[in-house]
Amino acid sequence: MTPSIGIDAIALAVPQGYIELSELAEARGVPPGKYVEGLGVRRMAVAQRWEDPVALAANAARRLFATSGQDPSRVGLCVVGTETAVDHSKPIAAWLHRLLGLPQRARVYESKHACFGGTAGLLTALDWIASGSAGGRTALVVCTDIARYELRSAGEPTQGAGAVALLVSERPRLLALDPSVSGSYSKDVDDFWRPLHRKEALVDGHHSVQCYLDALEGAYGAWKEANAAGDLHAPLARRCYHVPYGKMARKAHRHARQLDGLSEPEADATFAAEVAPSLALPAEVGNVYTGSLYFALASLLHAEAAKLEGARVGLFSYGSGCTAEFFAGRVASGAGALVKSLALDAPLEGRRRYGVAEYEAIRAADAEADPSFAGVRPPTRPGEVAFAGIENGRRIYL
Ligand code: CAA
Repeated sequence: MTPSIGIDAIALAVPQGYIELSELAEARGVPPGKYVEGLGVRRMAVAQRWEDPVALAANAARRLFATSGQDPSRVGLCVVGTETAVDHSKPIAAWLHRLLGLPQRARVYESKHACFGGTAGLLTALDWIASGSAGGRTALVVCTDIARYELRSAGEPTQGAGAVALLVSERPRLLALDPSVSGSYSKDVDDFWRPLHRKEALVDGHHSVQCYLDALEGAYGAWKEANAAGDLHAPLARRCYHVPYGKMARKAHRHARQLDGLSEPEADATFAAEVAPSLALPAEVGNVYTGSLYFALASLLHAEAAKLEGARVGLFSYGSGCTAEFFAGRVASGAGALVKSLALDAPLEGRRRYGVAEYEAIRAADAEADPSFAGVRPPTRPGEVAFAGIENGRRIYL
C-alpha cells in the first residue's frame, strides 16, 4: 500500500514592515471602503531592498527547520516557485542550497508559471516521493514573491510580499494530499504578465478576474470527475483559494458552490465557515503570488487544525497566463498540537507600520534592477538572511 504523502510542516516569512490600506486609500483619494470592503484587503507587506525573494525564501525555510524538528540533511529535492526571480539563469534554489546547508546529493531548481510555480513544485514533490525516487528523503518547496504594480494603479492595493516553506514527506504530520485525484486547467490568456525588463507587473485587471473564475470552473469540474471516479465521497469541510485579494477568494467560493448546485445566497452562506478562516493571514500581508494559497492554508491550520483533524480541505491554485489546479487533502491526526508548536503567525509579530511617504521612498530605493549597496549592513532581525547588494556582478547574502 502506498504510504500517505503530503505537507509535513509549514513556515512563513514576511518583510519587517507593512502599510495600512485604509491609509493608502486616503492618500490616493479613494474611499477606504473600496479597498477594505470592496477588495477585502487590510494590510500590505512592503519589502525593503534587502528583503529580496532569496532572503525571504531563506528565512521561511530556516524557520521551517527550526520549528519542525526536521533535518535539512534529509532533503533530496528543493524547488522554489517564484514569479519575481532575481536572475534569468541562477535559480533562488541555488542560493538556498548554501544558506540552508542542503546536501550535495540533492536536485535543486526554480519553477515558474506566475502564481502557480509553487504548486508545480509541490505536485512534482508528491510524484517524486510516490515514484520511489525520493528513497525516504524529504522535499522542500518554497514559494517566494514580491508583488509589485505601478504606484497609483488599480493593482496597487493588491500588492504584498513574503515566502512560505513547505516540507513534503511520507506520513505527513499536517495534510495528507489525495494521490492522483486532481483537476487541471490551462489556456493561453493575457491577463497578467511581467516583461523581462520590468519590476512591476502589467495586468488586465477585470479580465484577470474572469480568467481566474474560468480556470476555477475548469479545474474544479475536472477534480469533481476524478473525485467521483476515485470513490472519495467525503465532503470538503474547508476550501483554500489563491488569494490575490480577499474578495477574489469570496467570488471564487461563490462560483464553486454555485457549480455544486447552490443558489447565490446559499453559496454565500457557506463562506464564513468554509473559507473565512483561511483569509486572516493573507489580509495581513497582501498578495504573495506563488505563496498566497499556502498563506491561506497556513491561516486555516493556524485557526482550526485541531478541529479539522481527519477532515478534507480543497485547494485551488491559479497561475495567470494561465494554468490552474484543484486538489485536496486530509488534515492529519495530531496536526492541532503540531501547528501550535510551529507558531505560524510569529513572523508577523512586531512588524513596523510604514506611512505612505515611507512606502513610496522604499519603492524608489528599490527601483534599480541591479542595486549595488555592498558595504552597508542591512538592518535585519537577528539570525535573518539579508540581500546585501551586488559586488563584482555577484549577489551577496549575509
Ligand atoms: N465601498 C465598498 N466597495 C466598493 C467601493 C466603496 N466605496 N467602491 C468600489 N467598491 C467595490 C466594487 O463594487 C467592486 O466590488 P465587486 O468586485 O464585488 O463588484 C470592488 O470594490 C472593486 O472595485 P473595482 O472593480 O472598480 O476596482 P478596480 O477597477 O479599481 O480594480 C482589480 C480591481 C481589477 C482587482 C485591481 O485591483 C487589479 O487589477 N488587481 C490586480 C490583478 C488581480 O489581482 N487579479 C486577480 C485575478 S488574477 C490572479 O489571481 C493572479 C494574481 O495573483 C495577480
